[in-house]
Amino acid sequence: MSVITNLTRMWLTRSIKPFQFKNTSEKLLYTDCENLGLYVHIPFCKNICNFCPYCKTVYNEEKCESYIESLLQEIHYVGKQSTEKKEVTSLYFGGGTPALAANRIKDIIKALEKYFIITDGMGIELHPENVTISTLQTLKDSGITKISIGIQSFQTKYQSMLGREAINAVAMAQALAAVPFETVSMDFIFALPLQTYDDLKNDIDTAFANGANHVAIYPFIDFSFTETKVPAMRKNEKQKLLDEITVYCLGKELLRTSIWTFASEKHACYSSMTRDNFLGFGCSATTLLKDQFKINTFSVEEYCKKINAGEIPTSLTLKFSLRQRMIYYLFWTAYSTKVSSNDFKKFFGVSLKKMYGLEFGIAKLLGFFKEENGIYSMTLKGAFYYHYYENFYTFAYIDKMWGLLRKEAFPKEMKL
Ligand SMILES: C[S@@+](CC[C@H](N)C(=O)[O-])C[C@H]1O[C@@H](n2cnc3c(N)ncnc32)[C@H](O)[C@@H]1O
Ligand code: SF4
Repeated sequence: MSVITNLTRMWLTRSIKPFQFKNTSEKLLYTDCENLGLYVHIPFCKNICNFCPYCKTVYNEEKCESYIESLLQEIHYVGKQSTEKKEVTSLYFGGGTPALAANRIKDIIKALEKYFIITDGMGIELHPENVTISTLQTLKDSGITKISIGIQSFQTKYQSMLGREAINAVAMAQALAAVPFETVSMDFIFALPLQTYDDLKNDIDTAFANGANHVAIYPFIDFSFTETKVPAMRKNEKQKLLDEITVYCLGKELLRTSIWTFASEKHACYSSMTRDNFLGFGCSATTLLKDQFKINTFSVEEYCKKINAGEIPTSLTLKFSLRQRMIYYLFWTAYSTKVSSNDFKKFFGVSLKKMYGLEFGIAKLLGFFKEENGIYSMTLKGAFYYHYYENFYTFAYIDKMWGLLRKEAFPKEMKL
């Protein structure tokens, strides 16, 4: 698998140089970044799911409180690097299950608002058991405008396959109706063994009938370091399922907002990934700027220790070459299913045609993209192959990096 990603990387970066991550950190030059977003990671869950790759640990009130005190210090440390308040697009709380700290979300937002002006709303992830009127009200009163609920599946057979509890969709719908949000997204996992088009269609219909205006359908990924015994679906079956469900969603006039997300209302959106630059706070949080990518330590204990010692909790940093940054940009922009030549030119000061005209020409010939007025829109075929390639990317980069960071809080370096 890494042969494919290595060759692609060499071709697209026009270099044999790997992505070289080092255990160094430099001042974060974010003040001149446009389209900057914020991300805050809260790594606590009531129960740990054996299929989940994210950085998380079992919830404990005392541990969570001391983690949040460290998080606030990290925010002040980074925020103080700028003398003026910086305009940012959105703020997302991810995890773990950040809604477990619902009563501290206001304090975190207040700390961020000392340094940033958030223009396009704030989102947070919830486990279905957090969808109660009181938790939703606390989140709304704190300023949250978008929520994302990890449903996985409404069906008992898949819930038990994934080790998740049954969901009371009626009680959830009542709570969501009592405390409305601009975006209510529900997460599903697809490509589970023997999962059919009807299973998925039922899940999507149930979501929209019970308070969602946005759904995310993630392909199941069997990470090397997780303990799940659930096998991944075969390529052909997966393509058929993805194509069928996409056609179903488009037929229902849902808006495709990214490879895996669909919205029933124009204003509904939930994506912490498709932002040109972002600052991440908390353990395992990543920061992406014009010249660098950095990732914080995955260890909650080491994160708090570093912060208490007045140091920053960065574990690895990658200083981008220009072409490396370009492919990173293109990969995540393509995730939204559209790439704009104008936006590329604005970001890099050089035309997309000059840098990647050949590649986009080939992609058009292969039927992966259609082009109109400098906007490349992904076709159904393109979306499947993006999704297919993303699988290699996940194993060659994310699986390796997270696998290492789960074992070592501050590795010396890593080459990918
Ligand atoms: C942080 S969780 C969402 C909030 C909450 N912790 C929960 O589980 O309900 C993020 C989402 O990632 C997705 N996810 C986790 N592990 C996955 C895997 N192995 N493959 C695909 N999606 C996965 C699930 O859909 C999950 O809802
Ligand atoms: S899927 Fe959600 S609840 Fe389960 S371990 Fe991952 S973050 Fe926690």
